[in-house]
Amino acid sequence: MRTKLIVGNWKMNKTATEAATFAQDLGRRLTDRTACEIVLAPPFTALHALQAAVASLPSCSLGAQNMYWQERGAFTGEISGPMLKDLDCRYVILGHSERRQLFGEDDDLINKKVQAALRQQLRPILCVGESLAEREAGHTESVVTTQLMNGLAGLTPDQVQTITIAYEPVWAIGTGRAASADQAAEVHQALRRLLEKKWGVAAGEPVRILYGGSVTPNNAKSFLALPDIDGALVGGACLDPDSFATIIRAAQP
Ligand code: PGA
Repeated sequence: MRTKLIVGNWKMNKTATEAATFAQDLGRRLTDRTACEIVLAPPFTALHALQAAVASLPSCSLGAQNMYWQERGAFTGEISGPMLKDLDCRYVILGHSERRQLFGEDDDLINKKVQAALRQQLRPILCVGESLAEREAGHTESVVTTQLMNGLAGLTPDQVQTITIAYEPVWAIGTGRAASADQAAEVHQALRRLLEKKWGVAAGEPVRILYGGSVTPNNAKSFLALPDIDGALVGGACLDPDSFATIIRAAQP
């Protein structure tokens, strides 16, 4: 049984001060018996402000939205795995479509980051997803297959077990136009088949595959009720404590 995972990707929102207030507000809305796992992924500048607060919230840990693959050195503006570990980050989102599209990240760079995260005992959340043009051309499965295989290239079955995948159709991100639960489930099944074929059932079965793209309090249950969908990567709707808490509740069995 895979424990459901709800990740809040804050993107470039909230100052450190606002983050601390958010954590208090969220804490008041959670019960002690949260049966899913929760990850807050704020901007780097708010990680420290959330460190203690997150440790006191039930089933909650910190994630980063990106990292560089080198551990240290002359890489102006970059953040390394050891820096994230030092702030008690447990997860790191890698290969988000905004990183791919706006910052030119390709599969090769993302694979380096996945490998570097694993070296630091950080758990990568690898994002994959097709554009609208790719979906309309019938290329969804081949696009996510390439992203998955390239992103996880060189990993051992033991490493693959610890990975989380987020299927995020690019056309659904921030648009208010979520995929249907059936569309998501179809891609999730294809991703799991790929993982099991390449790395074996024992490695592929425990991997959590999240859906992301316009998840809201209104539609969360329709995704999270499905056995193929192991959680959600939430952008816009994670910024408000009420709506994020409602999505977390939708993940309760
Ligand atoms: P959204 O973003 O929920 O605002 O669509 C999801 C994401 O980009 O991870």
